[in-house]
Amino acid sequence: MIHIEVSTDTVMTCGHDAAVIALANEQVLSTSAQQVDEASQQCLSRYLATGDQKGDFGDWGILYDVAGMQASRLVLVGSGSDDLSLMKLQRLAAKVARQLQKTGVEKASLYFTDLSVGGASLAEKVHAVAQGVWLGLYAFTHHQTKAKKASVLSHISIAVNADADLEQAQAALQKAKAVASGMILARNLGNEPGNVCTPTYLGDQAEALSHPKLDVQVWDKAAIEHQGLRGLLAVNQGSSEEPRFIVLNYQGGKPEQKSIALVGKGLTFDSGGISIKPSPAMDEMKFDMCGSAAVLGVFKAITEMNLPVNVKGFISSTENMPSASAYKPGDVLESYKGVTIEVLNTDAEGRIILADALTYACEQDPACVIDYATLTGACVIALGAQASGLLGNNQDLIDQVHAASMTSGDRAWPMPMFEEYQEQIESKIADIKNTGGRAAGTVTAACFLSRFVDERPWVHLDIAGTAWNMEGSDLCVSGATGAGVALTVDFLEKNAV
Ligand code: BES
Ligand code: MN
Ligand code: ZN
Repeated sequence: MIHIEVSTDTVMTCGHDAAVIALANEQVLSTSAQQVDEASQQCLSRYLATGDQKGDFGDWGILYDVAGMQASRLVLVGSGSDDLSLMKLQRLAAKVARQLQKTGVEKASLYFTDLSVGGASLAEKVHAVAQGVWLGLYAFTHHQTKAKKASVLSHISIAVNADADLEQAQAALQKAKAVASGMILARNLGNEPGNVCTPTYLGDQAEALSHPKLDVQVWDKAAIEHQGLRGLLAVNQGSSEEPRFIVLNYQGGKPEQKSIALVGKGLTFDSGGISIKPSPAMDEMKFDMCGSAAVLGVFKAITEMNLPVNVKGFISSTENMPSASAYKPGDVLESYKGVTIEVLNTDAEGRIILADALTYACEQDPACVIDYATLTGACVIALGAQASGLLGNNQDLIDQVHAASMTSGDRAWPMPMFEEYQEQIESKIADIKNTGGRAAGTVTAACFLSRFVDERPWVHLDIAGTAWNMEGSDLCVSGATGAGVALTVDFLEKNAV
């Protein structure tokens, strides 16, 4: 991760290679822009009068050796016409960082905290800018033997107005760093191919998280058999990779405070099993463990922050493969809870391994349960890459998670769970079946999960559309995004003591 700091340098006194200011469509100058303009005999106003740069979101211009400035470059980046949101500010910072990476700039200062961003506080703006820079510059290069030409960009400074702002800006920067490193862990795990990121590897990565208040247990196949997680074992039947069940326990809060449980789907490769998937894009099913990556990313972030909250994590991990020993369409399984499941499609495996994890999580008596899963293609159709599906049994918890998702920019959007949907998973020969037909696929998958939680508040996040992005976006060049981490840290912070 590139070095980021906060400073009170002004555009004029900035001693770095580049000072970056934002330019809106309306060409209303920000405080920093006004400063340069006045000190440079309206250099900026004359530039804008040429019409060479309109201020459209992300457009880019550089003025060199502006009179009165110490930095040799004044970079102007368009912030667009709308009132900026924190999410857009984050995207803007990501765009700028990536663009700067292509230049000879080693050290740059960003003058973005003087922009008006809704009612956002300084801390929120610093957080958004820093997170944007770190996420925008992320690249997954582990497997490239010929390093691409290295960028010289090594140092970003986020400017704030006054010395009195430094302390809160510094705290915001630290929090942003924790969240970004959690997201980067989640991205790295997601991007690792299935032959590297196996259930065993996920277990090792969980064990590598270390903190005095964190305990990690990784169960091997024998331990999973001993516990009777038969759903996880059934999905694992066709694979030659051993399954893992991972239990994390972070006790950062008061001992008497109940934990919040996070449950993750860790399908390290989902071929569909005997109900095999079509070949095109099947490679993307290495990302089917992004729910578990989100859980591990959250633990990384909260341990780095020393967040005063108690959190338990539960990850079910296996591959889903076809073979002579694989579970088959028509099979009836008995889950860990005892509920019997008719398997109509072996590709609806995520709900089966999550069922056991949810039951086990509830047995540990948490205050509430949140699960993360790349569960349904239907959710990609419903919400695309812009929001995760949000379902659950408790309106208050749904509202809290929804609110956290909107403030963090890691968006999730509510979907209904009317009881009539439950009829779609009724089985003729077992208690329930593992598919509910094409209609409302995301909802019926959540209905299936709901059979394995008790009355305590539970929400399910379907991150199938948000967990990875092959085309890329401002915040994510390509591949795993780290979805679920930021919203959860935000939620946990609000629940901290
Ligand atoms: N991992 C997939 C869901 C998925 C598909 C995520 C495409 C992202 C992109 C899941 O295991 C699955 O295959 N679900 C099936 C369920 C169906 C058989 C009821 C699906 O969505 O097609
Ligand atoms: Mn599947
Ligand atoms: Zn799957």
